[in-house]
Order: sequence, then structure tokens, then C-alpha cells
Amino acid sequence: MTRTAGTQLADRWGINPEQFWLRDRLPERPVTYDEQKGMWNVYGYQEVVRVLSDPATYSSDTARLLPERSEFTEGSIISLDPPQHQKLRKLVSHAFTPKVIADLEPRIAALTHELLDDAGERIDLVSQLAYPLPVIVIAELLGVPAEDRNLFKEWVDKLLERSGQFSLVEQSEEQDKQMEAALEQLGHLSDYLGEHAAERRRHPREDLLSKLVQAEVDGNKLTDREVVNFANVLLIAGHITTTMLLGNTVLCLDEYPEQKAKVLADRGLVPGAIEESLRFLSPFATTARVTNTEVELGGTTVGADQMMLVWLAAANRDPAHFTEPGVFDVTREPNTQIAFGRGIHFCLGAPLARLEGRVALNILLDRFPGLRTDPAHAPEFIPAPTMTGVRRLPLVLK
Ligand code: HEM
Repeated sequence: MTRTAGTQLADRWGINPEQFWLRDRLPERPVTYDEQKGMWNVYGYQEVVRVLSDPATYSSDTARLLPERSEFTEGSIISLDPPQHQKLRKLVSHAFTPKVIADLEPRIAALTHELLDDAGERIDLVSQLAYPLPVIVIAELLGVPAEDRNLFKEWVDKLLERSGQFSLVEQSEEQDKQMEAALEQLGHLSDYLGEHAAERRRHPREDLLSKLVQAEVDGNKLTDREVVNFANVLLIAGHITTTMLLGNTVLCLDEYPEQKAKVLADRGLVPGAIEESLRFLSPFATTARVTNTEVELGGTTVGADQMMLVWLAAANRDPAHFTEPGVFDVTREPNTQIAFGRGIHFCLGAPLARLEGRVALNILLDRFPGLRTDPAHAPEFIPAPTMTGVRRLPLVLK
């Protein structure tokens, strides 16, 4: 294997060496079996789309293959199949509407300015903007005190510490311990949100938690457990996802100055830069499904009740779908990146992530058009093998 520009870049940035898709090392076959983990891998764009578009065959209820179920994850929107999924999605979409998101634009802009007002000549983009911005936004939207964010940061950080090296074959003690520790953190978060949700049932306000406890579609209402599980997903998702998106986009523009120059000259290209960043450095590499029946996929037969890792990040670099997938191009058209998934589980927070990304990037470029990575301090990436995102991004602003 020859080392290409892509490989050198991923190595220079110090991204986890297991992230093969960033190093032009896509497996030759679109669907393979991993004997060690007892799971299938789906890498090809076409195959990934097929899996995500067919929930009758490929179930999201992956927990059914795990030894123990948990009340904290059961009934969570991400793991439900039709028809339960449709019912819950309809209910939460009632509260989490495009208008609710669009109305946040002035607040996101004000918060971005506020956070940047403290900046001197140098900042760490992550701790000073890309992390606090989405956390404050989601806390305010839900209606929980943004000052509590150090509390839930601790729980969420611990929750996400799990290495991501999960195996169905070797169910080690270490793995059980990690799962237990993660569930403990989820328990703290659930208790915290449960108390706030109960308060809103007694005294509704104008926030998302109140809307969730009140939402009613076709005579259906959310149970307390469903409200809490959904709020959990939002708070966790609201934590690191947009952080990664914003950090990665700034890093890519710094790495490719001719692309940055295009965006500076035409701000209409900001959404294109965000889509390309999602494709080029997809924050979440995988999602998972379980086969309900035996299927033919990518020239292979996969039996029923098999766990599948669906590699969104590899699909986003598939040369059979994207021209020059290793090139970062803010004018890529069409950009059919699949970092937010596809089909019935398509990311509910995508409009919020895109809005936060667009508003924050525009303000950064307005105020600090010369921003660049700090030559004295390299960016640091999250070490998890299936997440791609900076956790420190030192920048020189002026
Ligand atoms: C679902 C990625 C931001 C809330 C998903 C899925 C992906 C994803 C891939 C589909 C999972 C599957 O099919 O199994 C991302 C990325 C983000 C992001 C890359 C940012 C760059 C957010 C934000 C929120 C959010 C900010 C909320 C505040 C959700 C929810 C679902 C979801 C509720 C479940 C939808 C369903 O199952 O119907 N996300 N997400 N996401 N995301 Fe996001």
C-alpha cells in the first residue's frame, strides 16, 4: 500500500490509526464478516443506503442480541423499529419542529459572539466555542439550567469513555464493567432529567421538556420514561456532535487554504463547507443494525439475527459513489454525504447541527478572517476508534 496525501494528513493530525477510511484503505469487499467480534461490517455506500432504507429487514433493536437490556435504553428512539418508532418520532417531532430550531438562530449568534468576546489572540476553539455553544443551546432548549452543564458534562464524558471496542464473541469482564459504568452515568442523567420533567408536568413552561410532556398525537402521549430517554438522547447528542462538526470544519479550511479562500469570497459556500466536512471527517463512523431474516448483501449471504456495523464514514469515502473522495471540495455538487444516516432514523438534530455550524462559522470568519492553527500547539483528536473529531484545536486568531 502506498502512502497517499490522505494517509499522511491523518497521521500528521494524529488521528487514531484504526481509522482506515481516512487513509485510503477501504476494504475491497463492501460487506465482510469479523470473526473476532462476531459481527458483520458494511462499508460500501450503496450497501449502507440499502441497509438504512429497509428497517423491516435491518432492525435498530440491536440490544436484543446483548445479554442484558436496560430500562435506560429501552424505548429510546434510536433503537425502535416500526410501528413504535413512527409513533414516537411523530410525537417528538411535534415538539422539536423546524420552526423551533430556526427560531434559535439569533440566540446561537448572540452566544457565539459572547463566547468569542473573551478570546485573546489565541484560543482553543473546542473549549472556548465548539463545546460550550451546542451544550448551552440544547440545555436552554430543553429548559434545564445551563449552569448545570459541568454536572452533565461529567456524566456524558464518562458515558462516552467506553472504548467502542465491543465484541459479541468475547464477553469479557472488562466489557461488562464498562457497560455497567456507562449505565451508571446514564442513571444519573436520567434522574436529573426525570426531576425536571416531573416539574414541567406540574408547572409547564415554554421549553422543550414542557412541550414533550404535553405532546399528543392521535390520542398518544409520551410516558415519563419516554420523555426522559428522549431528553437523554438530545443532551448526549447535543454535546459532542456539533463540537466535532465545527472543529473539523475549521481544521479542514485551515488545511486547504484555497478552499478557505473560496468560502471567504462567497459566504454562500458555508453550507457546502459544512456538508463536505461531514463527508470528509464524519463525526460518527458507525451505526448498527440486526438482521431480521437471511439476506443477500454486497454479494454475500448474511444469516438472520446477525449484528451489523454500518460504516457511514467509509461510505462517505467510497470511490464507487464519490469522485475523488479523498479531496476536500466545498463546491462538491451534489454532496450526498451520509453522516446523518438515512431513512426513518435520519438524524433529528441535523437541522440544529447545520444551523449551529453555519452561524458559528460565519461569525468566526467575520471576526477573525485570518484565523489559523497554532504552529506551536498541534490539534488533538478524540482517541475513540469510531469517532472523528478534535478535542483541542489551538488557533491563532489575528
Ligand atoms: C440520529 C448523526 C447531531 C439527535 C442520528 C443518526 C446519525 C446521527 C448517524 C442515525 C442513527 C441510526 O440510523 O442508527 C449525527 C451527527 C451530528 C448529529 C453526525 C452532528 C454533526 C445531532 C444533534 C441532535 C441529534 C445536535 C439533537 C440535539 C438525534 C436523534 C436521533 C439521531 C434524536 C434519532 C432519530 C431517530 O432514531 O429517529 N444522528 N447527529 N443529533 N440524532 Fe443525530
